[in-house]
Amino acid sequence: MAKAETTADEQGSTGDGGPLPVGVKLGSTRTVVALPDGDDNVVIAQDLTCLTTYGNALTGEDEYLYGEEAATMYPDRVEYMLRSGLPEDDERAELASDFFDHYVESLGIPEDSAVVYAVPTIENEAGIENLETVIEDAAIGGTLVRSYPESLCGAIPAVGDDLDAIDEIFLAVNLGSTNLEACAYRHGEQLSPFATGAVSGNEVDRRIANYVEEETQARVNIDGTTAREYKEEHADFGDFSPFTDVIQQPGGGSHEFTIERSVMDAVDEYVDEVVEEVANTFLPDLANDYMRVYQYALSRPVVLTGGMACIPGIVDEFAERLSEELQVEVEAVAPEEPAQAAAVGAQRIANRLVENGAN
Ligand SMILES: Nc1ncnc2c1ncn2[C@@H]1O[C@H](COP(=O)(O)OP(=O)(O)OP(=O)(O)O)[C@@H](O)[C@H]1O
Ligand SMILES: [Mg+2]
Repeated sequence: MAKAETTADEQGSTGDGGPLPVGVKLGSTRTVVALPDGDDNVVIAQDLTCLTTYGNALTGEDEYLYGEEAATMYPDRVEYMLRSGLPEDDERAELASDFFDHYVESLGIPEDSAVVYAVPTIENEAGIENLETVIEDAAIGGTLVRSYPESLCGAIPAVGDDLDAIDEIFLAVNLGSTNLEACAYRHGEQLSPFATGAVSGNEVDRRIANYVEEETQARVNIDGTTAREYKEEHADFGDFSPFTDVIQQPGGGSHEFTIERSVMDAVDEYVDEVVEEVANTFLPDLANDYMRVYQYALSRPVVLTGGMACIPGIVDEFAERLSEELQVEVEAVAPEEPAQAAAVGAQRIANRLVENGAN
């Protein structure tokens, strides 16, 4: 089911009759769409980026289920077609198009809208091309389609009102499901982009699952989805409390267990690894390429974007550990809603492009 605070059905377009400015992030875990409602507010819709098919018991025909509904009803075979961040092949690209068409239709986004996509900056030419196909084939964006880096879009709501971020120089670190990305922005231009798949939200989930097995003396095995839910619900650097959960035993009966360390050990190691990559790979490259930008940017708050920045306390933890590693005082900030920020920033860009009469 598409989750939206409101749908765009009644709106059609902006107050002045121009095209509807829409921001979209097609993420490997969730797809997020930001669009104006009738009264100048921006509303957010989001759903899991997945689908599944099943045979209709009466007609024998294939039926499709999308998003949360698919993930809940068919956890065993739901397909996340952007699992590695981008559509890996034609088949995944087609599934992604299918999902996205269904989603924008359920939101009632008009065809003649102006759409800005927040896209990852990872070196995967085939994947990026497949994503472009999905974007080009989409049933929206008839007036205008543009793509901007996800971490720039995500930083926009963190740096100030409107589009202040585009006038600034700052460092952005995107904490995603499949990748860690870092770069400097200078007036919207990306400098020394760095990405690694070795440090990621998905990796944290795998680790949580392993640690849960250890912590429960192999009595409990959890899948990736459960591990992700433990992380999203319980990880907290300021105020973590141990929690209990129950599994059904194969032979009947249930087993209750308590998790004390597994979640925080995994996210704690994650922050160390993020700091290690930023301090010892990305920043030296940036200093080498753009010494002045490096010096100036480090005196400004580093902007953390991406869903992993949602973990309470992670921003301060990152700043503290990076300061220690670099032996200089570094500040960090994040947008209020990191998991939605890229779509919100993309929507602000779309709005500006519409105002400027771009097409
Ligand atoms: N409230 C939360 N608490 C903890 N983690 C969260 C929360 N919300 C999202 N995440 C995590 O953030 C990650 C998703 O981040 P994001 O949406 O930025 O990724 P993505 O853009 O799909 O991935 P990528 O760009 O790496 O391909 C997932 O690992 C998810 O579990
Ligand atoms: Mg991302």
